[in-house]
Amino acid sequence: MALFAALISVLACSPVSEPHQSNAYQAGAPGIGDADFPTDGNGGYDVSHYGLAIDYTPATKHLQGVTTVQASATEGLSSFNLDLAGLRVREVSVDGSSATFTHKGNELTVTPAAPIDKQDRFTVKVVYDGTPQPAKDSANLGTYGFIPTADGAFVASEPNGSKTWFPSNDHPADKATFDFAITVPAGVTALANGELTGRPTTTDGKTTFNWSERHPMATYLATATVGKFQLRQGASPGGIPTVAAVDPKFASVLDKLYTESGRITDYWSTVFGPYPFSSTGGVVDDYSAGYALENQTKPLYGGFDPDEMIMAHELAHQWFGDSLSIKRWKDLWLNEGFATYSEWLWSEHMGKRTADEIFKTVHARPAGDPIWSYPPGQAKPGDLFNESVYTRGAMALHALRKAIGDPTFFKLLKTWTARHRYGNVTTKDFVDLSEQLSGKNLDPLFDAWLFQPHRPA
Ligand code: TRP
Ligand code: ZN
Repeated sequence: MALFAALISVLACSPVSEPHQSNAYQAGAPGIGDADFPTDGNGGYDVSHYGLAIDYTPATKHLQGVTTVQASATEGLSSFNLDLAGLRVREVSVDGSSATFTHKGNELTVTPAAPIDKQDRFTVKVVYDGTPQPAKDSANLGTYGFIPTADGAFVASEPNGSKTWFPSNDHPADKATFDFAITVPAGVTALANGELTGRPTTTDGKTTFNWSERHPMATYLATATVGKFQLRQGASPGGIPTVAAVDPKFASVLDKLYTESGRITDYWSTVFGPYPFSSTGGVVDDYSAGYALENQTKPLYGGFDPDEMIMAHELAHQWFGDSLSIKRWKDLWLNEGFATYSEWLWSEHMGKRTADEIFKTVHARPAGDPIWSYPPGQAKPGDLFNESVYTRGAMALHALRKAIGDPTFFKLLKTWTARHRYGNVTTKDFVDLSEQLSGKNLDPLFDAWLFQPHRPA
């Protein structure tokens, strides 16, 4: 067997066919290649799975973590990086052997005892602890990442806040499945993505919650939201398992959150195609973020009673953003434009204002309105979540709908979500599919709506 393998490798590396590559090891790049966010994510490997063991004590804000990353090398690696901000790394191993590491700024650089061959699978274990420090974005959203609260933590990491609580390839271009084992003081609940894989177990005054997200997920959608919560679990009328959780301060919202999340998920399944994940739901925490995030399977609402519109938005993201994820942040309108247009579709569905009425109202804004000077097809790194990405992005979809007609438009939405389910997409992918299904040249339409710094006609 060994001889046979050796023979194969000699043949494969024969200098006549290809240059001998087996000694070509290099340091993995400190960024995944998103020009607008040069140090986000990392090069040289692809993650397939994260195992997160997190022990969090709200009273001291102390986190102890053991993160296991399963990856495969996309090049021969002498060293590679993970993204991690703050926290103290105690120990790193690769395939069970102790590795050396340095942690500077947001980059944890790991040098394994032996280099890793291209295409080899490897497992990295990182033991770390400390007090997570949330990230700050001055332009749009304020604080994000792992945010300590009075009774736990509010965890919403878009765009690159996962590094505030676990080491990862923190960029949506590298999606992976996740397991969580979150240990908190007894009486406190830990909510993560996916489904519970057994009853929470309590020993010595601590409870461990095991959650598992079996579908690929972008790192920013991972959550480990901790606190006092009231839960309601069951299924939507259409049979999708549903988990709703609210801070006791929002006790009166629990039934509505549960019922509406299920009902809206069911409706979107008829419009966008089958729900991509194994459960749906939502979480309302008492941390006044003032925003919501489409955490996979469990959108998180920060300190307010969510209305149907925002639930429709966050649940539409389960298709647009979560199942289909962007490859680079400048295409963010593929998430936010679609989720905002979904609000308009929900309004129309509810017999309130139609999408066309909403479109016309926005289109009537004066030429000097800031959404006209910001082209939504190129989200700016310093101002990613600009209103244009949401509202003008939604208008682009409505302009498309009018140009190709309802039957083709709604077929396009379903084809789009089916073709790229669990994958990554770019604006070009969407333009190409739109043109293919409609048989029309739509370049002028997309150019005017997505890329020009003035109001389209
Ligand atoms: N994607 C969110 C939405 O539109 C908004 C958002 C962006 C956000 N970054 C965030 C929310 C960070 C919480 C934390 O619904
Ligand atoms: Zn959104």
